[in-house]
Amino acid sequence: MGSAMRVLFTSSEVFPLIKTGGLADVSGALPAALAEAGADVRVLLPGYPQAIEAAAAKREVGLLGDPFGIGGETRIIAGKLPDSGVPVWLVDCPALYDRGGGPYQDAQGRDWPDNALRFGLLSWAAARLCTDGSPAKWRPRILHCNDWQTGLAPAYLHAWETAARPGTVFTIHNIAYQGQFGAEMVGRLGFPPEMYGVEGLEYYDTLSFLKAGLFYSDRLTTVSPRYAKEIQTAAFGCGIEGLLELRSDDLVGILNGADYQVWNPATDNYLAHPYKPGDLVGKARNKAALQAELGLTPSPDTPLMVVVSRLSDHKGIDLVLAALPALLKLGAQLALVGTGDRQLEDGFRAVAASHPSQVAVRIGYSEPLAHQMMAGGDMLLMPSRFEPCGLTQFYAFRYGTVPVAHTTGGLADTLVDTGYDTLMNGTANGFVFEHCNAGAFQWAIERAVALYAKKDPWRKILKAGFAQDFSWGRSAARYLEVYKSLTGNGNGNGKGNGKARGKA
Ligand code: ADP
Ligand code: GLC
Repeated sequence: MGSAMRVLFTSSEVFPLIKTGGLADVSGALPAALAEAGADVRVLLPGYPQAIEAAAAKREVGLLGDPFGIGGETRIIAGKLPDSGVPVWLVDCPALYDRGGGPYQDAQGRDWPDNALRFGLLSWAAARLCTDGSPAKWRPRILHCNDWQTGLAPAYLHAWETAARPGTVFTIHNIAYQGQFGAEMVGRLGFPPEMYGVEGLEYYDTLSFLKAGLFYSDRLTTVSPRYAKEIQTAAFGCGIEGLLELRSDDLVGILNGADYQVWNPATDNYLAHPYKPGDLVGKARNKAALQAELGLTPSPDTPLMVVVSRLSDHKGIDLVLAALPALLKLGAQLALVGTGDRQLEDGFRAVAASHPSQVAVRIGYSEPLAHQMMAGGDMLLMPSRFEPCGLTQFYAFRYGTVPVAHTTGGLADTLVDTGYDTLMNGTANGFVFEHCNAGAFQWAIERAVALYAKKDPWRKILKAGFAQDFSWGRSAARYLEVYKSLTGNGNGNGKGNGKARGKA
């Protein structure tokens, strides 16, 4: 029996400390599942004020100096994640993190001008905590980075050429966000000029944090098997497909899980009427409560479609607007909670204003409403153009809400379209469409509405959904296998060098 695998897991958002999307859900739940599987995990994130406030049992671990000459010491504060108790380390640098707004943008939706420094420091701190320069005694064997904000960490380890370095794993949650900055940031962030090239940090004449992570990490993962294939093609690779193809032996797709502690209708404190998965009477009560709360016509038999999503092009939310006239003609209702693209926000506000009893729109981020819509809705609309994994379909399954979704990425890996055969063999759990356009989406909505009217088959679809188990344990075991392949503890080949990192 070896000692527990020590993993430093770093991410720019972690539920319940700070969240803008699914990355936070994963960064809160996966470390907890890894800990449950016996790993010794610490989560590292920036010391945003709300994160410092929400973390429990805080104490100072040590000082990291002022690597970028910002003015002021960077401290590491240790705490615990509420509920799971997983240890967290917060990178406390008030000059970079102590401000209002969100993690990436100000309150007006503009990117913070110093994002390269904000996430450069997160990456630098992650790398530092893996070396002899760390103020902490605890030294990880694996550094697990997530998305572009942490992409420079493996690059720092390469630049420093430290003797004992951990195995590095980089998870792509969304390849469309790449963290590109001007070339002048290469030196500002402390890298030698020779690392700025095609065989390194450079991506079409910019410094790309994502490229750095993909180039310098030992292993690459992404959040569904289908997306792992998709991102190696020009249609989905956002320009990085070539590098991923080159590294395909080191790339694996591991499906995300759902945190059923947070997303369980039976224990959900946000619900007026908590109910057991599969309890249709309980669900109907929540639907009535939601209709009342949102000012929709109180009608138990009217199909209520919900959207819980960032409002962006990637989520295909414009297709919901395009399909709305048809949806209204079918007599269905729509409830949406979301925030993002201003044009989409205005579009939905306008429809809600002209159809208040049929369409309810809440622009903004609301954890309670997200849960209430999941419980009160009959169908969850997810016409994503691409979707690395998607988590809301997992929540929908548990809450008895049927996804109507475009078959892409993780949605393709988790949804089974309703047809004669799949209904008969009990695998149908949603309605999917193949070509991402308003017509195809509308057809899927029409099929869903038609079946909703037939109670028996509808119940079968619900049953297939809530019978599925997407808990994190299985995925955590897969991540542990990846870690072990790098530390020589398992069946892996123990190679610790990313192919792309070899000398040119
Ligand atoms: P993505 O990370 O691309 O936004 P996911 O489906 O992986 O997509 O995760 C989205 C997460 O964010 C889910 O937990 C969902 O409930 C939540 N979410 C999205 N929009 C909102 C909102 N407006 N209010 C509350 N939660 C939201
Ligand atoms: C990203 C993706 C989403 C995925 C989430 C967590 O935000 O857009 O599909 O579920 O990360 O991995």
